[in-house]
Amino acid sequence: MKKTGHFAEDKPLLRDVDWRVRPGENWVVLGLNGSGKTTLLKLITGYALPSTGQMRILGKDFGEYDWRELRKEIGLASSALAEKFYAAETAREIVLSGLYATIGLYDTPGKSAVEKAHAAMELMGIAALAERRYAEFSQGEKQKVLIARALVNSPKLLLLDEPCAGLDVFAREKVLSSIQRLPSSGGGPTMVMVSHHVEEIVPAFTHALLLRRGKVHSSGKTSGVLTKENLSSFFETPVNAGKKAGRFYLEPR
Ligand SMILES: Nc1ncnc2c1ncn2[C@@H]1O[C@H](COP(=O)(O)OP(=O)(O)OP(=O)(O)O)[C@@H](O)[C@H]1O
Ligand SMILES: [Mg+2]
Repeated sequence: MKKTGHFAEDKPLLRDVDWRVRPGENWVVLGLNGSGKTTLLKLITGYALPSTGQMRILGKDFGEYDWRELRKEIGLASSALAEKFYAAETAREIVLSGLYATIGLYDTPGKSAVEKAHAAMELMGIAALAERRYAEFSQGEKQKVLIARALVNSPKLLLLDEPCAGLDVFAREKVLSSIQRLPSSGGGPTMVMVSHHVEEIVPAFTHALLLRRGKVHSSGKTSGVLTKENLSSFFETPVNAGKKAGRFYLEPR
């Protein structure tokens, strides 16, 4: 992606974003509320359109791709999407709808589709919830349904917008360890995860993009970006940061 701008009422939401994700890299995107993280994911999935700049996704230039087809290769789990599902649908139906990249299930899924949905739910540890209705789920259960839906098509690109929001500490660790295992589980997706918490950056995330007020503050290898100095500059306030037992931590100084 190069110098992409997305505007609303003449105010750019993102500016000068020069960002490239190469095969084998997994990125975490960090930034304060309103910094443009969700907007960035919306640009990648066609839920927002760039007003200027160039964008290339999975080998195709912007304008060349058919969004309905492209979305089948991109798994998206986002709370922005969570609000759109129909309350009466079961977890299985919601996960199945991911196969067709639709909100709501309009096609009659065949045996192999149902098997794929089951496998994705197994991976997220929610197979037992398959028949229950979405409206009844706790926030954490909804998050897991969403991630299973994002995974159901074995996507090339997996976009996770705050996948651990609302999860208790044990559920969070389970989700993170599932995420950590994905790239190694044969042909796993390239991942981009938006997060507010550096503790959620498991080793699978090789690279980090720091967004501030719609612009890239810094980007590169995770260990180079998440230093005390760089994060203090990013937050415009002194912080202590580093790694403890293989995971990052961040605290105000
Ligand atoms: N359609 C829109 N029209 C106008 N402004 C918008 C639109 N969508 C987003 N914004 C604004 O763009 C900015 C970036 O929003 P975005 O949702 O990308 O932030 P974010 O980094 O995901 O924040 P958070 O951490 O709170 O989720 C915010 O100031 C938001 O109010
Ligand atoms: Mg957001």
